[in-house]
Amino acid sequence: MHYNFKNLLFKGSFLQKEGNESVYYKLFDSLKSVILAKEIPDNFKLPPSRVLASDLNLSRGTVIKAYELLLIEKLIVSRQGSGYFTNKIENTSKVPNKELATKKHPGIYPKISKLGKSFIQNSEYYVGENYLGTVCFRPGLPPLDIFPAAVWQKLSNQYWKSIKYSELSYSDSLGIKFLRKNISNYLKIYRNIDCDPDQIVVTSGSLHSLSLVATAILNPRNSVILENPTYKKAYNLFKSLKAEIHMADLNDDEFNIATLEDIETKLLYVIPSNQYPSGKRMSLKRRQELLDYATSKNILIVEDDYDHEFSNWEEPISSMFSLDINDSVVYLGTFNKLLHPSLRLGYMIIPKFMISPITAISKQTFRFISPNLQSIMAMFISQDYLNKHLRQVMKVSNLRKDAFIEHFESLFKGEIDLEINNSGLHIIGILKDHVKDFQLCNYLLENDIHVHPLSSYYIEDKSRNGLVMGYCSVNKTLIRKNLNRMHKLYLNYLKETTAIES
Ligand SMILES: Cc1ncc(COP(=O)(O)O)c(C=O)c1O
Repeated sequence: MHYNFKNLLFKGSFLQKEGNESVYYKLFDSLKSVILAKEIPDNFKLPPSRVLASDLNLSRGTVIKAYELLLIEKLIVSRQGSGYFTNKIENTSKVPNKELATKKHPGIYPKISKLGKSFIQNSEYYVGENYLGTVCFRPGLPPLDIFPAAVWQKLSNQYWKSIKYSELSYSDSLGIKFLRKNISNYLKIYRNIDCDPDQIVVTSGSLHSLSLVATAILNPRNSVILENPTYKKAYNLFKSLKAEIHMADLNDDEFNIATLEDIETKLLYVIPSNQYPSGKRMSLKRRQELLDYATSKNILIVEDDYDHEFSNWEEPISSMFSLDINDSVVYLGTFNKLLHPSLRLGYMIIPKFMISPITAISKQTFRFISPNLQSIMAMFISQDYLNKHLRQVMKVSNLRKDAFIEHFESLFKGEIDLEINNSGLHIIGILKDHVKDFQLCNYLLENDIHVHPLSSYYIEDKSRNGLVMGYCSVNKTLIRKNLNRMHKLYLNYLKETTAIES
């Protein structure tokens, strides 16, 4: 069967001028109405994103985002190496996802709030988010296969064997004392940070911590400064909260303080120890300058030290939190990187003046992180397993980094240049100008290789074209095997794109 996808321009909300839905959402809406009306049959192959983009005169990213939404609503499925196909839908009244019924009865659901809409508009439907099982070479993953599951199970058994039933009741919103004490000991030993356990807040991770801080500090249209490039989820969070965002370039190798002089700001988000994704390290001098600047202008600095275990191992550098004497720094840390991201356990150290609002927000939103999880984590630290695991992780990730670099360079020499930093969990590869990082990443992802486009971390037009690759989530044999596969895919991609262009 043939379907003229140019008809989409007359479907759903495509022609509606009102409303400020993005083009990708309108395309999604139009495709959804065509699929639900069965104008195209089940198991119908959708045109490749490149083709549909050119037919409809849209960008390929727009089409990919629309396909992503269709995937989320289970209206289409992705088949490895073959593309996207419409899913089987029984009949239009029995749709697979309840939310799909909304369009049939407009107005029966309450309208989404402005804030809710803002979060939807600023969340990126990056194609990778639907490939959660693909770990090779997703950036930011530690060696997942050496996580000591047996130890965790033993501690978990110990915990449940000696459980006091009072511990199954409600718990402290800032975290259980046992864990907060152990985190403060851990930070003293490994990060040379002195802090009172009462200033520690246990959260589900760095992004959770950041959202608590932003809620406590920012009003809509307050201004926030971030580094360019930056951790995109942090940027999206501030955007969703309607902050006015200013980007400070990292052009003289670190945060360019001169660009900040005239900006009235309230919060500054930095990743000084191992800037993400550039891997740059802010000098001690610049850290001190930023602290002076923040103090003079009454700005809160949020220091994201998300991978300090990886970036401070060989040459520790003082955290901004420990250099600060004016209560102007919030320090974000996480166990989701060192152990595994599915743990969902992190922490922050807050200045004393923030304890009251953060406690109140926590109490009235998520209440507290599971005390079972917190207790097992505290036992893991106090019984010295974290220390042992940390050493093991550093050893293994360094070996894997060497293996990755060596094999990558033997395959991609002259094609993709690696930028090798001393630290972190990822490596950047710079592409030639004619190979576009977004397109290549999507192509690789459709074939189960998960790397991120470097340009996606940049805001506005300062972007660089490359790949951000994690090197240590799998063992050396799998690294080599998957790099070989990636290389073949890369060559196929070059062939395909040259054929289309000529
Ligand atoms: C710079 C940066 N900060 C924070 C995080 C998030 O950590 P968590 O999983 O604890 O939310 C990430 C995750 O990739 C990151 O890259």
